[in-house]
Amino acid sequence: MNRRDFLRAGMSGLALTALGTAYTSGASAQKNVRIGMIGTGNRGGYLTGLLCKFPEVSIPAVCDLLPEAAGRAAETVEKSGRPRPEIHAGDEYAYRKLLSRDDLDAVVIATPWDWHAPMAVEAMRAGKRVGVEVPAAVSVAECWDLVRAEQETGKSCMMLENWSFRDDNLAVLNMIRAGLLGGILHCQCAYAHYCAGYWAFDADGNDRWPAKFLEKYNRDQYPTHGLGPVLSWLDINCGDVFESLTATATASVGLNAYFRRKFGPDHPNATRRFAQGDIVTSVLRTRKGKTVVVTYDINLPRPYDNQWLVQGTLGVYSHEHNAVMIEGKTGDRHDWSPFDPWLEEYRHPWWKTMGAEALQHGHGGADYIEMRLFVNALVEDAPFPLDLIDGVTMSAVVGLSEQSIAAGGTPVPFPDFTGGAWETRKPTFGMVPR
Ligand SMILES: NC(=O)c1ccc[n+]([C@@H]2O[C@H](COP(=O)([O-])OP(=O)(O)OC[C@H]3O[C@@H](n4cnc5c(N)ncnc54)[C@H](O)[C@@H]3O)[C@@H](O)[C@H]2O)c1
Repeated sequence: MNRRDFLRAGMSGLALTALGTAYTSGASAQKNVRIGMIGTGNRGGYLTGLLCKFPEVSIPAVCDLLPEAAGRAAETVEKSGRPRPEIHAGDEYAYRKLLSRDDLDAVVIATPWDWHAPMAVEAMRAGKRVGVEVPAAVSVAECWDLVRAEQETGKSCMMLENWSFRDDNLAVLNMIRAGLLGGILHCQCAYAHYCAGYWAFDADGNDRWPAKFLEKYNRDQYPTHGLGPVLSWLDINCGDVFESLTATATASVGLNAYFRRKFGPDHPNATRRFAQGDIVTSVLRTRKGKTVVVTYDINLPRPYDNQWLVQGTLGVYSHEHNAVMIEGKTGDRHDWSPFDPWLEEYRHPWWKTMGAEALQHGHGGADYIEMRLFVNALVEDAPFPLDLIDGVTMSAVVGLSEQSIAAGGTPVPFPDFTGGAWETRKPTFGMVPR
């Protein structure tokens, strides 16, 4: 291990100590954790490279449906100076060979959405801890499958919701916990990202795997990036719990219009029937009377936006304005006040200790913080920083929004994944002394 890697491991050790675990940087930096990668396309390939930054990680095996994708990940691992991983590839169930290995402590899953829950459940039942990409599940039944598998195996699963680990969102969490915004009543959040010519379809207009979801389902397909930070802002599952959800969708016109503009009226997708409404608005209500508006908006031209807003009895934070208004602490009650000084003052210890390194990596550094803490938990055999109950709570919006839209916007009950324990569970996410 070179000096830089050693210092990096030590810094993460500081952060974990603050989380209340027995982490000691020197000892833990020596310990090896063995991770298998399942799904090594864009995201899985990137995560493979990121995990190779951590000296404690070895990657004995990688798996992808496509041998070339698995081969690229194997090359990444080899280039990092580690032994070349064994490749399991070539069919949809090749991951089962990887799961049957006895030289893995954990797996990271970055496959298309419908594979997440089945693979994560099988992985836990095969004795592995799991990091699974978002959303962890595409139906409420899958959410329960995950919860049961974790309870029955004692092998935990973390949904890799990176936006929960952002610098700004964690500072807002610190401000809320310091009481600056008073009692929180309402939040807004969104996944608003024009994905037509980039993610659901390639630049030539051919389907990529998300396209089949847009053809078949009318729902919020991707709620977790917006909801991730909101869960901790509202103490969901640890003091309060979601009770009901209503969802409403616009008509589906954006994708047809995109194909007409880009490829002409004769392109098959210019008239293809997509079930997916262009904008889905879900409203969630908690047992204690808080509300959350979650917006899903990926088919229409627009800049990327998560639209986070938190409103409490003493003030409001707005991501859009990058500003706050806090009664008695910021200027005139009609004006926004810049968020940056508050970000500096309430910066989360994870960012104080790891921020400089994190900023060298993707999604504004959130990916690094997330995966550093994921690896720390594996090294120490400690709980993951984001627990599965929160992962399935965010993911359940996929299936629940589909049910509500199909029923004309009728409220549907939100399952209590804590089994009633939300009243006594204590917040754990990001609980580090300032
Ligand atoms: N957290 C984030 O910021 C973020 C960003 C991008 C994507 N993602 C998530 O990552 C996941 C992958 O997205 P992507 O953009 O990398 O897609 P991708 O198409 O680039 O990669 C998916 C890979 O999975 C492989 N695959 C499909 N079925 C498989 C199977 N049965 N077994 C093994 N491999 C299989 C494909 O061959 C492909 O290489 C999605 O769930 C997506 O939501 C998360």
